[in-house]
Amino acid sequence: MNSKNIKQWVLLAGICLALLSSCNKQPEKALAPGEIWPDNNGMHINAHGGGILHHNNTFYWYGEHKIEGEIGNTAQVGVHVYSSKNLYDWVDEGIALKVDEDEKSDIARGCILERPKVIFNKKTGKFVMWFHLELKDMGYDAARSGVAVAEKPEGPFTFIRSMRPNAGHWPVNVQDYHLKPVHDSIKPTYCGGKGCLPAHPDTLNLLGRDYTNGQMARDMNLFVDDDGTAYHIYSSEDNSTLHISQLTDDYLSHSGKFARFFADRYMEAPAIFKTSGGTYYLIASDCTGWAPNAARSARAKSIWGPWEELGNPSIGPDADLTFHSQSTYVLPVPGEQDKFIYMGDRWKPENPIDGRYIWLPIQLKNGYFEIEWKDNWNVNSAWKNN
Ligand code: GAL
Repeated sequence: MNSKNIKQWVLLAGICLALLSSCNKQPEKALAPGEIWPDNNGMHINAHGGGILHHNNTFYWYGEHKIEGEIGNTAQVGVHVYSSKNLYDWVDEGIALKVDEDEKSDIARGCILERPKVIFNKKTGKFVMWFHLELKDMGYDAARSGVAVAEKPEGPFTFIRSMRPNAGHWPVNVQDYHLKPVHDSIKPTYCGGKGCLPAHPDTLNLLGRDYTNGQMARDMNLFVDDDGTAYHIYSSEDNSTLHISQLTDDYLSHSGKFARFFADRYMEAPAIFKTSGGTYYLIASDCTGWAPNAARSARAKSIWGPWEELGNPSIGPDADLTFHSQSTYVLPVPGEQDKFIYMGDRWKPENPIDGRYIWLPIQLKNGYFEIEWKDNWNVNSAWKNN
């Protein structure tokens, strides 16, 4: 082979290598809010009102398993769990908590079981699930919380009990007027998403009314602080007021220490996250049932408050409806400082199984945060300035 031929061969080999390596290059993975999100079997992920546990380098996504048609708004199956190493590719791990075929069970098939969240207890080595529970055939009147436990993140979870939180305890910020008798003669004047209330919940003293049997608890979340203390955050007092309640060390009960915030603001869908600087942020929604509304946000230097409300963090088109979504969880990106992912649901109450997932990066600003719509985005490149 003469030198000209050698040069041609080297050139050809170079071109082939370049072509090969460009063929091997994987397209960048992306999250596409609002689209169908297929799991490893090609089925749209079925984990609504969900939350994520990051454990041993794996993400576990727990959520409400919905079925087709309006009946799908009640729990016919249970809590579904998926696992992923990268937040894009999800493996169906099956049903983590099954509804009970026994009609007498609190979690009998046909109950309403919403917003399940799972945390890991380092002291006991157990996985603890909390959820909003409405007893079968009682609409949303029961307003209870359920707790279940498992040895493994995929489950099976064993249902322990349901309750109304903090029976026989006053919140740390109880007011004198709560300690007075209940005003049951006052006529409701405010009609919100799930019923009517007087103009201000304190007029009716729902807190005092429920002191003995426990506080109402509907939309909820969990938050584990840096010191391992876990908190249950739930819409109480007929959704009018948010309660933040410390759990016991084993995460299986309420400790009796709790506080009430945002009285009369009707905040639902709460989710708390904490920055490296120690600021607690809250995202929540207004109370309009399955219909989307403008999100709420707030910040505090201590989880026990004072909490300062900041307004709707959504920006851009459809911000007033939070991009047709309602918050369900905020995921801190593991190993990254101050990168958080907003997780929301785009509900389809007429065919709940078709509900979509709206995940978007949360941009921290100086003392507040913003969420901007993206058609698709990648966790490695979504955050500005870092
Ligand atoms: C929403 C709530 C959902 C579900 C729904 C029922 O406000 O966030 O979790 O309870 O109401 O109407």
